[in-house]
Amino acid sequence: MRKVVIAGNWKMYKTQSEAKAFFSEFPTQLKTTAPKAAIANQQILICVPYTNLAIAQTVVPAIGLSNLSIGAQNVHWTENGAFTGEISPPMLVELGIKYVIIGHSERRQFFGESDETVNKRLKAAQAHGITPILCVGESKQQRDTNETESWIFSQLAADLVDVDQNNLIIAYEPIWAIGTGDTCAASEANRVIGLIRSKLTNPNITIQYGGSVKPDNIDEIMAQPEIDGVLVGGASLEASSFARIANYQ
Ligand code: 13P
Repeated sequence: MRKVVIAGNWKMYKTQSEAKAFFSEFPTQLKTTAPKAAIANQQILICVPYTNLAIAQTVVPAIGLSNLSIGAQNVHWTENGAFTGEISPPMLVELGIKYVIIGHSERRQFFGESDETVNKRLKAAQAHGITPILCVGESKQQRDTNETESWIFSQLAADLVDVDQNNLIIAYEPIWAIGTGDTCAASEANRVIGLIRSKLTNPNITIQYGGSVKPDNIDEIMAQPEIDGVLVGGASLEASSFARIANYQ
Protein backbone atom coordinates (compact mmCIF):
# COMPACT_ATOMS: atom_id res chain seq x y z
CA MET A 1 0.00 0.00 0.00
CA ARG A 2 1.38 3.39 -0.98
CA LYS A 3 1.90 5.83 1.87
CA VAL A 4 -0.13 9.05 1.91
CA VAL A 5 2.04 12.10 2.59
CA ILE A 6 0.34 15.44 3.18
CA ALA A 7 3.16 17.98 3.19
CA GLY A 8 3.40 21.70 3.69
CA ASN A 9 6.19 23.77 2.20
CA TRP A 10 6.49 26.99 4.15
CA LYS A 11 9.09 28.38 1.71
CA MET A 12 10.61 31.58 3.19
CA TYR A 13 7.74 32.28 5.58
CA LYS A 14 7.48 32.33 9.39
CA THR A 15 9.89 33.48 12.05
CA GLN A 16 10.39 31.18 15.03
CA SER A 17 7.69 32.94 17.02
CA GLU A 18 5.26 32.67 14.10
CA ALA A 19 6.11 28.98 13.74
CA LYS A 20 5.45 28.39 17.45
CA ALA A 21 2.09 30.14 17.12
CA PHE A 22 1.20 27.84 14.21
CA PHE A 23 2.06 24.72 16.20
CA SER A 24 0.10 25.85 19.23
CA GLU A 25 -3.01 26.01 17.03
CA PHE A 26 -2.48 23.23 14.47
CA PRO A 27 -3.09 20.13 16.69
CA THR A 28 -6.38 21.55 17.97
CA GLN A 29 -7.46 22.36 14.43
CA LEU A 30 -6.58 18.81 13.34
CA LYS A 31 -8.84 17.36 15.98
CA THR A 32 -11.82 19.51 15.11
CA THR A 33 -12.17 17.96 11.68
CA ALA A 34 -10.62 14.65 12.78
CA PRO A 35 -10.59 11.25 11.29
CA LYS A 36 -8.04 11.03 8.44
CA ALA A 37 -5.12 12.68 10.23
CA ALA A 38 -4.96 9.78 12.62
CA ILE A 39 -4.77 6.97 10.10
CA ALA A 40 -1.65 4.88 10.33
CA ASN A 41 -0.78 5.08 6.67
CA GLN A 42 -0.72 8.87 6.56
CA GLN A 43 2.26 11.13 7.22
CA ILE A 44 1.79 14.82 7.89
CA LEU A 45 4.90 16.79 7.12
CA ILE A 46 5.79 20.48 7.32
CA CYS A 47 8.95 21.62 5.54
CA VAL A 48 10.11 24.74 7.33
CA PRO A 49 12.91 27.31 6.86
CA TYR A 50 16.23 26.28 8.43
CA THR A 51 15.76 28.61 11.39
CA ASN A 52 12.65 26.65 12.38
CA LEU A 53 14.09 23.13 12.07
CA ALA A 54 14.81 22.80 15.79
CA ILE A 55 11.05 22.72 16.31
CA ALA A 56 11.35 19.06 15.32
CA GLN A 57 13.11 18.44 18.64
CA THR A 58 11.20 20.81 20.86
CA VAL A 59 7.66 21.72 19.88
CA VAL A 60 6.65 18.71 17.78
CA PRO A 61 7.44 15.93 20.32
CA ALA A 62 5.33 17.80 22.86
CA ILE A 63 2.36 17.72 20.47
CA GLY A 64 2.45 13.92 20.63
CA LEU A 65 1.21 13.16 17.11
CA SER A 66 3.29 10.22 15.91
CA ASN A 67 2.62 10.90 12.23
CA LEU A 68 3.61 14.58 12.30
CA SER A 69 7.14 15.38 11.07
CA ILE A 70 9.26 18.40 10.24
CA GLY A 71 11.23 18.50 7.01
CA ALA A 72 13.82 20.78 5.40
CA GLN A 73 13.63 22.55 2.04
CA ASN A 74 17.11 21.76 0.72
CA VAL A 75 20.37 20.03 1.65
CA HIS A 76 23.94 20.05 0.34
CA TRP A 77 25.64 16.90 -0.95
CA THR A 78 28.77 17.02 1.21
CA GLU A 79 29.12 16.52 4.95
CA ASN A 80 30.84 19.85 5.56
CA GLY A 81 33.07 22.32 3.77
CA ALA A 82 33.49 25.86 2.51
CA PHE A 83 29.97 26.24 1.10
CA THR A 84 28.61 29.48 2.51
CA GLY A 85 24.87 29.44 2.97
CA GLU A 86 24.42 25.68 2.64
CA ILE A 87 23.29 23.08 5.19
CA SER A 88 24.68 19.52 5.28
CA PRO A 89 22.93 16.18 5.78
CA PRO A 90 24.48 15.55 9.24
CA MET A 91 23.16 18.95 10.38
CA LEU A 92 19.64 17.80 9.51
CA VAL A 93 20.13 14.35 11.00
CA GLU A 94 21.26 15.85 14.31
CA LEU A 95 17.92 17.66 14.52
CA GLY A 96 15.97 14.49 13.80
CA ILE A 97 14.94 15.61 10.31
CA LYS A 98 13.80 12.70 8.13
CA TYR A 99 12.50 14.49 5.02
CA VAL A 100 13.88 17.14 2.67
CA ILE A 101 12.48 18.80 -0.45
CA ILE A 102 14.95 18.70 -3.35
CA GLY A 103 14.78 20.38 -6.74
CA HIS A 104 11.80 22.62 -6.07
CA SER A 105 11.11 24.76 -9.15
CA GLU A 106 11.92 27.90 -7.13
CA ARG A 107 15.42 26.51 -6.44
CA ARG A 108 15.79 25.60 -10.11
CA GLN A 109 14.45 28.96 -11.34
CA PHE A 110 16.02 31.43 -8.91
CA PHE A 111 19.10 29.68 -7.50
CA GLY A 112 20.64 27.84 -10.42
CA GLU A 113 19.70 24.34 -9.27
CA SER A 114 20.44 21.87 -12.07
CA ASP A 115 19.51 18.24 -12.61
CA GLU A 116 23.11 17.40 -11.75
CA THR A 117 23.02 19.11 -8.34
CA VAL A 118 19.52 17.75 -7.71
CA ASN A 119 20.86 14.25 -8.30
CA LYS A 120 23.77 14.83 -5.89
CA ARG A 121 21.46 16.20 -3.21
CA LEU A 122 19.06 13.25 -3.57
CA LYS A 123 21.85 10.69 -3.12
CA ALA A 124 23.39 12.57 -0.18
CA ALA A 125 20.05 12.78 1.63
CA GLN A 126 19.44 9.07 1.13
CA ALA A 127 22.97 8.18 2.26
CA HIS A 128 22.08 9.80 5.60
CA GLY A 129 18.72 8.09 5.95
CA ILE A 130 16.70 11.16 4.95
CA THR A 131 13.79 10.70 2.52
CA PRO A 132 13.99 13.26 -0.27
CA ILE A 133 10.93 14.74 -1.98
CA LEU A 134 11.99 15.28 -5.58
CA CYS A 135 10.00 18.03 -7.34
CA VAL A 136 9.44 17.91 -11.08
CA GLY A 137 7.09 19.85 -13.33
CA GLU A 138 6.69 21.82 -16.51
CA SER A 139 6.40 25.54 -17.23
CA LYS A 140 3.37 27.15 -18.87
CA GLN A 141 5.27 27.45 -22.11
CA GLN A 142 6.23 23.78 -22.07
CA ARG A 143 2.63 22.80 -21.45
CA ASP A 144 1.41 25.05 -24.26
CA THR A 145 3.87 23.53 -26.70
CA ASN A 146 3.03 19.93 -25.71
CA GLU A 147 6.38 19.31 -24.06
CA THR A 148 5.02 18.39 -20.63
CA GLU A 149 5.67 14.67 -20.86
CA SER A 150 9.07 14.86 -22.55
CA TRP A 151 10.27 17.53 -20.09
CA ILE A 152 9.21 15.59 -17.02
CA PHE A 153 10.67 12.36 -18.35
CA SER A 154 13.98 14.11 -18.99
CA GLN A 155 13.97 15.54 -15.45
CA LEU A 156 13.30 12.08 -14.02
CA ALA A 157 15.98 10.42 -16.14
CA ALA A 158 18.63 12.93 -15.08
CA ASP A 159 17.60 13.39 -11.46
CA LEU A 160 17.20 9.71 -10.60
CA VAL A 161 20.55 8.31 -11.77
CA ASP A 162 21.69 5.90 -9.01
CA VAL A 163 18.93 7.13 -6.68
CA ASP A 164 17.32 4.52 -4.41
CA GLN A 165 13.65 4.35 -5.33
CA ASN A 166 12.84 2.64 -2.04
CA ASN A 167 13.47 5.82 -0.08
CA LEU A 168 11.97 8.54 -2.23
CA ILE A 169 8.88 10.70 -2.66
CA ILE A 170 8.15 12.52 -5.90
CA ALA A 171 6.06 15.69 -6.16
CA TYR A 172 4.54 16.66 -9.50
CA GLU A 173 4.36 20.45 -9.35
CA PRO A 174 3.40 22.14 -12.63
CA ILE A 175 5.16 25.51 -12.36
CA TRP A 176 2.19 27.41 -13.80
CA ALA A 177 0.00 26.14 -10.96
CA ILE A 178 2.34 27.23 -8.13
CA GLY A 179 1.10 30.23 -6.18
CA THR A 180 -1.24 31.23 -8.99
CA GLY A 181 -4.58 29.83 -7.84
CA ASP A 182 -4.62 28.14 -11.25
CA THR A 183 -4.79 24.52 -10.04
CA CYS A 184 -4.10 21.73 -12.49
CA ALA A 185 -7.35 19.81 -13.00
CA ALA A 186 -7.33 16.82 -10.66
CA SER A 187 -7.83 14.41 -13.57
CA GLU A 188 -4.89 15.93 -15.47
CA ALA A 189 -2.63 15.78 -12.39
CA ASN A 190 -3.70 12.15 -12.04
CA ARG A 191 -2.81 11.45 -15.67
CA VAL A 192 0.66 13.00 -15.44
CA ILE A 193 1.38 11.26 -12.13
CA GLY A 194 0.38 7.95 -13.73
CA LEU A 195 2.91 8.65 -16.49
CA ILE A 196 5.59 9.48 -13.92
CA ARG A 197 4.83 6.21 -12.14
CA SER A 198 5.18 4.29 -15.40
CA LYS A 199 8.80 5.51 -15.65
CA LEU A 200 9.84 4.31 -12.18
CA THR A 201 11.44 1.01 -11.28
CA ASN A 202 9.51 1.07 -8.00
CA PRO A 203 5.84 1.74 -8.80
CA ASN A 204 4.97 1.98 -5.10
CA ILE A 205 6.63 5.36 -4.60
CA THR A 206 4.43 8.02 -3.04
CA ILE A 207 3.75 10.65 -5.69
CA GLN A 208 2.25 13.96 -4.61
CA TYR A 209 0.59 16.77 -6.50
CA GLY A 210 1.54 20.38 -5.72
CA GLY A 211 0.28 23.71 -7.04
CA SER A 212 -2.52 25.83 -5.53
CA VAL A 213 -3.81 23.02 -3.32
CA LYS A 214 -6.48 24.47 -1.03
CA PRO A 215 -9.14 23.25 1.41
CA ASP A 216 -11.71 23.53 -1.37
CA ASN A 217 -9.92 21.32 -3.90
CA ILE A 218 -8.12 18.80 -1.66
CA ASP A 219 -10.95 16.27 -1.58
CA GLU A 220 -11.13 16.01 -5.36
CA ILE A 221 -7.34 15.81 -5.67
CA MET A 222 -7.05 13.05 -3.06
CA ALA A 223 -9.87 11.09 -4.70
CA GLN A 224 -7.63 10.48 -7.74
CA PRO A 225 -6.23 6.95 -7.80
CA GLU A 226 -2.65 7.87 -8.75
CA ILE A 227 -2.26 10.79 -6.31
CA ASP A 228 -0.80 9.79 -2.94
CA GLY A 229 -0.58 13.16 -1.27
CA VAL A 230 0.03 16.85 -1.76
CA LEU A 231 2.80 19.42 -1.37
CA VAL A 232 1.13 22.62 -0.23
CA GLY A 233 2.61 26.11 -0.23
CA GLY A 234 0.37 29.04 0.67
CA ALA A 235 -2.43 27.02 2.23
CA SER A 236 -0.01 25.34 4.66
CA LEU A 237 0.77 28.63 6.39
CA GLU A 238 -2.50 28.85 8.25
CA ALA A 239 -3.24 26.15 10.84
CA SER A 240 -6.94 25.83 10.03
CA SER A 241 -6.49 25.51 6.28
CA PHE A 242 -3.62 23.01 6.53
CA ALA A 243 -5.59 20.99 9.09
CA ARG A 244 -8.54 20.81 6.70
CA ILE A 245 -6.16 19.63 3.95
CA ALA A 246 -4.66 16.95 6.24
CA ASN A 247 -8.21 15.91 7.10
CA TYR A 248 -9.27 15.54 3.48
CA GLN A 249 -12.44 13.56 2.99
P1 13P B 1 1.22 26.85 -3.60
O1 13P B 1 0.43 25.79 -2.87
O2 13P B 1 1.32 28.14 -2.88
O3 13P B 1 0.73 26.97 -5.02
O4 13P B 1 2.74 26.30 -3.70
C1 13P B 1 2.97 25.01 -4.15
C2 13P B 1 4.38 24.66 -3.91
O5 13P B 1 5.28 25.22 -4.51
C3 13P B 1 4.67 23.65 -2.89
O6 13P B 1 6.00 23.25 -2.93
